[in-house]
Amino acid sequence: MLFKKFFIVILLAVALAGCRSTKDCRKILVSKCNSCHGLSTSCAKVGESYGRWLDIVDAMTTLHADVSEKERKVLAKCLSEPSPVTDDICK
Ligand code: HEC
Repeated sequence: MLFKKFFIVILLAVALAGCRSTKDCRKILVSKCNSCHGLSTSCAKVGESYGRWLDIVDAMTTLHADVSEKERKVLAKCLSEPSPVTDDICK
């Protein structure tokens, strides 16, 4: 019984965390990656590897994009795999 409750709590936590990071992905992109060039520049690279995206965001930081280390990872994760989220951002 206790185990079942525990399991549900874990499930909820995972679902919430996933939800938060997809929202973050959009928020970060729109607020921090949309000033020098449009989102289409980022959208053109959706599906590049996670490592490649870390490098791209790193390069953008050098160009003065204001992205934290955590945001860099959120973006790399979200943009390295086409998903309903990237479809929505890039439609
Ligand atoms: C300070 C201005 C600036 C900001 C902010 C910025 N970029 Fe860029 N970005 C550029 C410039 C300039 C280029 C083209 C030069 C280049 O390719 O290095 C570029 C190119 C790109 C490219 C194409 C790179 C390639 O290899 O073809 C991608 C993808 C990209 N940006 C994504 C992003 C993302 C994601 C963010 C948010 C973290 C971001 N950019 C924020 C200036 C910016």
